[in-house]
Amino acid sequence: MASVAPNDLSSLWMPFTDNRYFKANPRLMVAAQDMHYTTADGRRVLDGTAGLWCVNAGHGREPIVKAIQQQAAVLDYAPTFQLGHPLAFQLASRVAGIMPEGLDRIFFTNSGSESVDTALKIALAYWRAKGQGQRIRLIGRERGYHGTGFGGISVGGIVTNRRTFGTGLPGTDHLPHTHDPARNAFSKGQPAHGADFADRLEALIALHGPDTIAAVIVEPLAGSTGVLVPPVGYLERLRSITAQHGILLIFDEVITGFGRIGAATAAERFGVTPDIICLAKGLTNAAVPMGAVAAARHVHDAIVDAPGDVPGIELFHGYTYSSHALACAAGIATIDLYANEGLFARARALESHWEAAMHSLAGLPHVIDIRNFGLVGAIELGPRPGLPGVRGQEIFRAMFDSGLLIRVTGDIIALSPPLIISEAQIDEIADRLATGLRQLADA
Ligand SMILES: Cc1ncc(COP(=O)(O)O)c(C=O)c1O
Repeated sequence: MASVAPNDLSSLWMPFTDNRYFKANPRLMVAAQDMHYTTADGRRVLDGTAGLWCVNAGHGREPIVKAIQQQAAVLDYAPTFQLGHPLAFQLASRVAGIMPEGLDRIFFTNSGSESVDTALKIALAYWRAKGQGQRIRLIGRERGYHGTGFGGISVGGIVTNRRTFGTGLPGTDHLPHTHDPARNAFSKGQPAHGADFADRLEALIALHGPDTIAAVIVEPLAGSTGVLVPPVGYLERLRSITAQHGILLIFDEVITGFGRIGAATAAERFGVTPDIICLAKGLTNAAVPMGAVAAARHVHDAIVDAPGDVPGIELFHGYTYSSHALACAAGIATIDLYANEGLFARARALESHWEAAMHSLAGLPHVIDIRNFGLVGAIELGPRPGLPGVRGQEIFRAMFDSGLLIRVTGDIIALSPPLIISEAQIDEIADRLATGLRQLADA
């Protein structure tokens, strides 16, 4: 038996972490309530990132806690392969109720990565069911983040997440990203320039042939690569090109779903309806892991009504924990809470205050761009010469020590607070960042 000391940090191999640095300088959270974490050394930290873009209703919310506790005592787990339990159906109806018109067939997963892989597999199954099984190409986008499964990294466009892990799925290709600081730096809301980046899809379609392409997947607003807000007209153009060639359009709304940009979905906010939406994070307010895929009726029906390869099961896909009872209880309580407190509308109402607070940081040392939409913001810093990402880490650590949790991607600060944030707390985030950026410049 291995000898392991209690509270030894070495056994845990941490995800997306500098393990050796962390274990020498641990940052441990022991509690969280509403807008704040409490650290192991008893400090309160204002949550500027809703955890990892997921705790949209704030931490430790009582109705969600109670729902999970009650459900655990009644039915902990029931399979949903060939069986069911009522909460799974209830939650699916509730999710369908806030999706864009027609996207009302809901498949449950346990994470955003699983939602992405599920959506890609549904797209392939759809074309096979329609007798066009040669449509196997999947188009993603540079700087796209679609989680860490092999499907997600194949259509994703983050080099560090791909290069270690082989060739990924064959037959993928990528649109260019839409980040264009030369034309759009310091845009408030949607940037004016860049709808033309969608035209590259026409070139990819010409290159591969439209009848080989199953789907295009994009984050309507890219979060993890540093908040890339879609240029005016860009999503509309993607929709019209995909529709023209009969290609499915998938929106990965793992971040944008559930109020983050002031509506239930980015599809609703931007007025562009895809064929499939990937969800996770805010679905359960992160209290229990869960993801979902919302599919248009025609996508679902094509698969479910097709004769299939084997009689009985239409889609050979699913997870042991699809529709987990505790996650369903958390999901229903979360959607109730969003509705009872009007949190999506609240995010929308706070947007102008948030925008002003973010852009008040313009002109501070090293700030080369500021972007915002909904309750999402990014402050891009110029890198230290020859040391990309170091300045980002410096500001992250300084802010954490000062009592503010931010997120950094390279030298980009990304912010996405819980939707319950007050205007005073928005100002506090801006003030703390301003102080931190000035001190960093002096250091
Ligand atoms: C757009 C998007 N898709 C997928 C994922 C992956 O989600 P998970 O980490 O739950 O697998 C994320 C996570 O940040 C995301 O932002």
